[in-house]
Amino acid sequence: MLLAAGCRQDMQNQPRMFPQRGTTLFADGRSVRPQVEHTVARGQLYESDYFYTGLMNGKEADVMPFPATMQVLDRGQERFNVYCTPCHSRVGNGAGMIVERGYKPAGNFHDPKRLAEPLSHYFYVMTNGYGAMPDYRAQIAPADRWAIAAYIRALQLSQNATLADVPAGTQVQNLTDVAQGLGEPASYAGPWPMPATAVYGQKTIGIVAGAPAEPVPQPAGKTKGETMQPPARPSGAHK
Ligand code: HEC
Repeated sequence: MLLAAGCRQDMQNQPRMFPQRGTTLFADGRSVRPQVEHTVARGQLYESDYFYTGLMNGKEADVMPFPATMQVLDRGQERFNVYCTPCHSRVGNGAGMIVERGYKPAGNFHDPKRLAEPLSHYFYVMTNGYGAMPDYRAQIAPADRWAIAAYIRALQLSQNATLADVPAGTQVQNLTDVAQGLGEPASYAGPWPMPATAVYGQKTIGIVAGAPAEPVPQPAGKTKGETMQPPARPSGAHK
């Protein structure tokens, strides 16, 4: 027993700093030393680089810092659909789901003002935010922000594209023919109206807030511990 107790005089007992606990060793009394201001780890100075800032000599520019391949555009589409569509919608008209429910209308990428912006403007907005729009610097890596910017350009092109914009030899089909070829009615190629039950937060965008007059199930006579049954659906209802 005595021998075993004697073995505990190891590094356990040496003086050391405990995180967030004060010390008398340093003049400011902090055991955790503050980082030296204005120091940057080697290889992490992003300030001056177009790839990280979207600015060239302090200005936005209309170039990609790397080639916009099909792979980059696919990635951009995927990331755009994840991060931007809730507000900007899949077509980028600024009337996404969140906006339809009352958020400030997000920028429409097809209006003349946004069409005229240089490519890195989109990168810059994602990096630094813009008015009511939060920044996505932490969520989206720089390469992906560029991919999204490239995809926004593709979206813009898609709205007013002509046959001359597609590579020679590419077969372009009329949307109505595509729909009919798939055995769908021609109307599938037109705009799809929202269902009558859609709920809108803003009068300007759609129908006035008009939740269907569906009775709210009341927990009639419900006692503690009892589980509430969902209301029975009338037969023939499709949803
Ligand atoms: C939470 C909703 C929301 C999300 C998500 C969002 N935005 Fe926005 N965005 C807005 C709003 C709102 C505005 C208009 C801001 C204003 O005018 O105050 C805007 C404006 C913009 C503008 C226009 C700036 C200008 O020059 O007028 C761009 C570009 C933009 N967003 C890009 C994006 C991209 C790219 C994403 C995805 C990474 C994204 N936004 C995600 C809400 C959003």
